[in-house]
Amino acid sequence: MKILVFGKDGQLGKAFQEELGVRTSALLAKPVVQYVGRSKYDLTNEEALTQLLHQFQPQLIINASAYTAVDKAETESDLAFAINARAPEIMAQYAADHDATFLHYSTDYVFDGEKYGFYLEDDLRNPLGVYGKSKVAGEEVIARVFAGARSNAQYAIFRTSWVYGDGGNFIRTILRLAKEREELKIIHDQFGVPTNANWLAQVSLSLAIDEHVRLRKFTSGNYHAVPAGETTWHELACLAVQEAIDAGVALKANPSAIEPILAVEYPLPAPRPMNSKMSTDKLHQVFEGWGDMSKLEQLNQSWDKAVRSYVANLAKDGLI
Ligand SMILES: NC(=O)c1ccc[n+]([C@@H]2O[C@H](COP(=O)([O-])OP(=O)(O)OC[C@H]3O[C@@H](n4cnc5c(N)ncnc54)[C@H](OP(=O)(O)O)[C@@H]3O)[C@@H](O)[C@H]2O)c1
Repeated sequence: MKILVFGKDGQLGKAFQEELGVRTSALLAKPVVQYVGRSKYDLTNEEALTQLLHQFQPQLIINASAYTAVDKAETESDLAFAINARAPEIMAQYAADHDATFLHYSTDYVFDGEKYGFYLEDDLRNPLGVYGKSKVAGEEVIARVFAGARSNAQYAIFRTSWVYGDGGNFIRTILRLAKEREELKIIHDQFGVPTNANWLAQVSLSLAIDEHVRLRKFTSGNYHAVPAGETTWHELACLAVQEAIDAGVALKANPSAIEPILAVEYPLPAPRPMNSKMSTDKLHQVFEGWGDMSKLEQLNQSWDKAVRSYVANLAKDGLI
């Protein structure tokens, strides 16, 4: 099997390198995996992207690349749409025409956050900013391309939220600030679920491949993929800071010095949804249908346990 992974230098791309490495290490017949990043293939170069797909001929395409600069997107609309909609369209078209499987990622920002409770996959999309609009455009174009796909072609779009891994993210920013300042102010009226990039890669691979790294058959469409539970940015910041202190890191701010503020007190160029909570019932039903308890357990992992272990590892590696 040939696997092509885009976005190798991003948080999710790095997680795929790790997780695919683990899954394939004991295999005798290893898949051929190519990881590509911006330095070699800039996704705005449509010709190079098309050529790469036709030359490599992947059976599984994983698109971990994206334009993720939420605020900058407000003034870089064309670029955001090129990376988040046009490039995925080219990948999807290749998969649809060649019986391949396509895994793509989207975001809670496709919603306006007005819903009370957890968003379902089919809920109305109403993005508040350019980034969210570009991700909606990506979702729409992939669905359209696959409507005319060959019989074995399939796709999954995993909508996720508050991703953290090997790269810049909210948790690492908070830990840096807590080292520099005695007091912090963090939003406490936006709700969501922090998602570990490795967890997301694992869940994605659980849907797409079996233990021998052979493709599984699944129903194409959107899947919400976040761990169990819910929180606020403020609660997440307090937990991360406390965990770092418990791990022996010297910080200037402790959780009691993190003041909860309202989102309106911290205006940003791009508005964010107040409620980013997404139900994972659909993915649960798939794994339940397969009778696979280990995958269900993985899906049921709580966000806070994963954050604790992430921060503990950062501390152990001297990265705070
Ligand atoms: N991060 C979050 O909080 C979050 C929340 C919800 C959904 N998501 C979605 O989850 C997925 C993974 O996110 P992530 O956190 O792993 O993102 P990330 O760390 O920002 O990684 C994105 C990758 O895409 C690459 N990329 C951007 N523009 C490119 C271009 N023109 N050509 C080639 N590569 C390009 C970047 O390359 P460089 O390394 O060279 O910049 C980077 O490696 C994305 O689809 C994102 O929309 C993320």
